[in-house]
Amino acid sequence: MTHQTVRSILNTLSHPVILVDAGRRIRLLNAAAIEQFGDELEGQDFVHALRDPEALDCVERVLSGSQSAEAIIQSMLPVRTTLKISAVRPEGAEELDCRAVVTVTDISHIFEAEQMRSDFVANVSHELRSPLTSLTGIIETLKGAAKDDESARQKFLEIMGREAGRMNRLIGDLLSLSKVEVNAHVRPAGLVDLPKLMEQTVATFTSRSKSNPPDIRFETLGSLDLVPGDADELTQVFHNLIENAVKYGVDGAPVRIRLSVLEQAPGFRGKAVSISVRDQGGGIAPHHIPRLTERFYRIDEGRSRKQGGTGLGLAIVKHIVNRHLGRLHIESEVGVGTTFTVHLPAA
Ligand SMILES: Nc1ncnc2c1ncn2[C@@H]1O[C@H](COP(=O)(O)OP(=O)(O)O)[C@@H](O)[C@H]1O
Ligand SMILES: [Mg+2]
Repeated sequence: MTHQTVRSILNTLSHPVILVDAGRRIRLLNAAAIEQFGDELEGQDFVHALRDPEALDCVERVLSGSQSAEAIIQSMLPVRTTLKISAVRPEGAEELDCRAVVTVTDISHIFEAEQMRSDFVANVSHELRSPLTSLTGIIETLKGAAKDDESARQKFLEIMGREAGRMNRLIGDLLSLSKVEVNAHVRPAGLVDLPKLMEQTVATFTSRSKSNPPDIRFETLGSLDLVPGDADELTQVFHNLIENAVKYGVDGAPVRIRLSVLEQAPGFRGKAVSISVRDQGGGIAPHHIPRLTERFYRIDEGRSRKQGGTGLGLAIVKHIVNRHLGRLHIESEVGVGTTFTVHLPAA
């Protein structure tokens, strides 16, 4: 096989491939390798392609007799990327003067997913540890100093109840999140009467506190048939959004919810439903907005905690909306208020 034939074949591969001779010189780069490393490397030492000691060592090992070798390296150019370098000794390629076939695979996304997973575990542990620390402290106090103090006992039992509730909510939210993640690619099978679902969700807030119920106003514009969806999940979405609007809104100012039917919406083929939840709270500075749906992202961690938040509400909302092939929009003006809008396909 000629050099040119080999080049044509290797050019069909999307990963960079570099053929190296016994003297570590580059004999051939395929098109993907030329795109990544430039076209002036043929005939040069491999070091000019990847100036990384581990990558070089990997090639050296194959040149000095190993069947294959692998290395994972971090490259900073032009952005931080993680590359897997693998070198293999080809059999019977003496004709081409090729002693190592080096392939380069960009595994940044796998690396990032791994990183996200370990960050997530660290976050969960951190979130569980603080109520646990508080519970352990109280148990010690109740065993010792406050043993015979009835009023202290009452106070501590109350705190214990609160902390246990917090752990319970966190675990509930984690389970919800994992459930929607598992079903992420399965379309919901049910049909939902959205105006009724909204009425019921609003009622759970207004009936909860008899003395000082939040002012939530709900209106529907236009008439709507049943829409495809999972009723429990959609309830969870609007429950979360309304709860946030009440929590982070201003006491006494109304939360306004509007359901309207859109004949056309960007990104939707047919009719869509728009449900917006608007509060008159302090608003959200623009740089926070893209990050709000990240797990455990809170603008004011102390405030969220004090109000019983887990920081997972919007992450769950986003997953459910995605599963319904919908969109979530967040608009906010500092000092004026915030509107969360969910668009869902209506047919
Ligand atoms: N309506 C809102 N107004 C202002 N900030 C909000 C609003 N909704 C959400 N946020 C911010 O987004 C963060 C994440 O929300 P969420 O995921 O529901 O977590 P949680 O409510 O448990 O803190 C909140 O901690 C808060 O800082
Ligand atoms: Mg919330």
